[in-house]
Amino acid sequence: MKNEDPRTIRLAEYTAPAFLIDEVALDISLDPKATRVHSRLTVRRNPDSKAADAPLVLDGEKLTLHEVKLNGETVSPNGYQVDEAQLTLFDAPDGPFTLEIVTDCAPEENTALTGLYLSSDIYCTQCEAQGFRRITYFPDRPDVMATYRTRIEANKTDAPVLLSNGNLEASGDLDGGRHFAEWHDPFPKPSYLFALVGGKLGHVEDKFTTMSGREVTLRIYVEPGNEDRCAYAMEALKRSMKWDEERFGREYDLDIFMIVAVSAFNMGAMENKGLNVFNDKYILARADTATDADYAAIEAIIAHEYFHNWTGNRITCRDWFQLCLKEGLTVFRDQEFTSDMRSRPVKRISDVKLLRAHQFPEDGGPLAHPVRPDAYIEINNFYTATVYEKGAELCRMIHTLAGPERFRKGMDLYFERHDGEAATVEDFVSSLADGADLDLDQFMRWYSQSGTPEVLASGTYDATRKSYTLTLSQVCQPTPGQPKKAPYHIPVAMGLVGPDGNDIPLQLQGEDAPIGPSRVLNLTEQEQTFHFVNVPAKPVPSLLRGFSAPVKLNANLKERDLMFLMTHDSDPFNRWEAAQRYATGLLIGLVGAQANGDKNRQGTAFADMIRALLADSSLDPDYVAQMIVLPSEQTIAQTIGKDVDPDAIHAARETLRGSIAVQLRDEFAKTYEAFRVDGPYSPDADHAGRRSLRNACLAYLAAVPGSQDGVALALAHYRQATNMTDAMAALGVLANVEEPAHDEALADFYDRWKDNHLVVDKWLTLQALSTRPDTLDRIKRLTTHPAFNIKGPNKVRALITSFAAANQVRFHAEDGAGYEFVADKVLELDRLNPQVAARMLGSFKSWRQFEAGRRAKMEAALKRIAETEGLSRDVYEIATKTLA
Ligand code: TRP
Ligand code: ZN
Repeated sequence: MKNEDPRTIRLAEYTAPAFLIDEVALDISLDPKATRVHSRLTVRRNPDSKAADAPLVLDGEKLTLHEVKLNGETVSPNGYQVDEAQLTLFDAPDGPFTLEIVTDCAPEENTALTGLYLSSDIYCTQCEAQGFRRITYFPDRPDVMATYRTRIEANKTDAPVLLSNGNLEASGDLDGGRHFAEWHDPFPKPSYLFALVGGKLGHVEDKFTTMSGREVTLRIYVEPGNEDRCAYAMEALKRSMKWDEERFGREYDLDIFMIVAVSAFNMGAMENKGLNVFNDKYILARADTATDADYAAIEAIIAHEYFHNWTGNRITCRDWFQLCLKEGLTVFRDQEFTSDMRSRPVKRISDVKLLRAHQFPEDGGPLAHPVRPDAYIEINNFYTATVYEKGAELCRMIHTLAGPERFRKGMDLYFERHDGEAATVEDFVSSLADGADLDLDQFMRWYSQSGTPEVLASGTYDATRKSYTLTLSQVCQPTPGQPKKAPYHIPVAMGLVGPDGNDIPLQLQGEDAPIGPSRVLNLTEQEQTFHFVNVPAKPVPSLLRGFSAPVKLNANLKERDLMFLMTHDSDPFNRWEAAQRYATGLLIGLVGAQANGDKNRQGTAFADMIRALLADSSLDPDYVAQMIVLPSEQTIAQTIGKDVDPDAIHAARETLRGSIAVQLRDEFAKTYEAFRVDGPYSPDADHAGRRSLRNACLAYLAAVPGSQDGVALALAHYRQATNMTDAMAALGVLANVEEPAHDEALADFYDRWKDNHLVVDKWLTLQALSTRPDTLDRIKRLTTHPAFNIKGPNKVRALITSFAAANQVRFHAEDGAGYEFVADKVLELDRLNPQVAARMLGSFKSWRQFEAGRRAKMEAALKRIAETEGLSRDVYEIATKTLA
């Protein structure tokens, strides 16, 4: 089939549904080849619909239709029309009426993992965004909210456990070795929150008493044998429930909360009402199988999905353009939760790193779209860093503008006004404006304008007047479909650091007294000037403290100012920021120097900063670990921005790393010894922070050029590791070396863990991210290894997507072989699982920033994909938009 231009869906064309559904009763008989779904809907015409005589149109894909009945009477085939996407019922009454539909679907053939599918013999569903239509005919849009009663029937041996949303109302045995369970969810919900699970599952159980004293049963279901790896997830769930009560006054609403962990899942996890389904990677953890980072991700994702119960489920989205209404807000909430559970500065640093690594390139490239997009071909392509991460930054800016108490008032008002509704971004922002008493009219532009604003700052000190003048200006480059931008409302948190390293009290001209050592300036015009008075000495400005807005700041700071801030700024984020900027400058200098053979820039000042940090025992070791790690190769590439040569960047970074390692060998060795963690493993932030610093030292020690000691140390570290964090830190070093230790350690690791699919994924990723020149050949060989399976999204992400997204030097190999390989895999996977294929293709989005040779090769690979016949909407949209 030729790719005819698939239809673009537009926000401007939103219309209310012609019909509403009040109740859904499903009767589902599970079978791998033909699952029979009997659906009984209570339907009525929507009084608010403008189309008073529109037919009833139901979505449905890959279904076999058996029967349609209206008020108990079979509808003859000329009463309706069916095509591959819809069932249209002519002459539907205004109702209320009942509509019964009998269909079959085939979970066994479902490789796209949307709708009802089998994940290693467990029946499970994924309905967001539009998977429910692969289970039955339905108005599959979030503004149609109904209560669900779900009766599931299955063979008792194959599927002893049968779950759905809500509370269990009945269950029992049937003839022929079958049994059933009946679930009822009293909360009206959109179809995307429906879930069903059936299979052989074990579980762990706990209880939580809510703030009003209700007891809630908590269960985590896993494949039998994995019950001993659920404890951390369960504790994280209880912490999340408690936190949402304390911080937002939000209580859980059903009698039971269930989580099911499955191995085949397109994303991280899904917030289905009362029945979250998780990628098992974000549930299963034990000290010997999961790293500190895995534990942290489990805690964050459990919290995220749980928090959706209020921000997403109780208040859902009117349409998919409003996705940030639930995702941006829920990410903001999970970030705050993690900040309260762990180190706030370290969390902020890692969130900003993530935003810059994924969202900034999106906003600066061909796939740029507003936080609330206005058009899409395939909604699955809009579960992006922009909607999630930038969406969270918008909530954070409102929080910064309001302060915590007024923000809470705004949130309370939002829940009060919109509980039980399918809401819009306007509903959210006006609740916050009213509840927090803020003017957010101009702020709304953040939701509709794409692109990362750039803020330029310049300051002058007047020694005679003891005043400091700060001029801020903003500009946002054109993005697809948006040549001109109006000024944003940008909160700029800032301080002025005096020569003694202390913050100077901030008093603006016209104010009677200083307001504090740190304050938020409102930049709303294209250019604004702020006059500070009573400034005793020339300060260094510390701007955008805590990264108070998702912008690119150019503060025109000299190297000397950055060195000053990286040791003195009272804001821990900006101290890190200054160090990173300083190092980036150094590295970009080295990239240039590489070209003219000058390797003299040794990073002495940066090494001095590290030395001072390592010597200061009052600091949080995790924070120190963040401070001492050099900016990534991707960060350097992004900063250079054009004609990027990944080989030169890799070489420059390795040179600097080696030079720092040589200069600080003794200090790193000392810290490595001092931060040994004794006693039983604990994943808490304290122990994890110590390991993180110690392992950062290990990486430096192994980076001493030509050092056999470094390799030996890494090998010893691997052999002595009593937890996965240390084992992976050692393997991360060994994966890159071209020594026998490489094969020895990787073979040992595989041998030990070949039966644990999650650990095997780590083994695949270690090899996918290796900087060795033979990496691509090895990856190709691994695609035929028993550990790999193209139908498993975790396998594909571990081996191929991680190579394309994170191995800058090998994916961007000069000969273009990396591009060709990934393009082949995108096409192969597109026939099985379009969502995962489209995501993999995202690695081509920055193709225009590379030097001419690579740029041409990336463009050729993209064109080859775009011109392939029979593409999914998912891959078609990404390929054509990336090339545009
Ligand atoms: N709503 C999920 C979240 O918590 C995202 C998600 C899970 C999803 N599975 C999906 C989105 C499948 C699209 C398709 O963020
Ligand atoms: Zn979410």
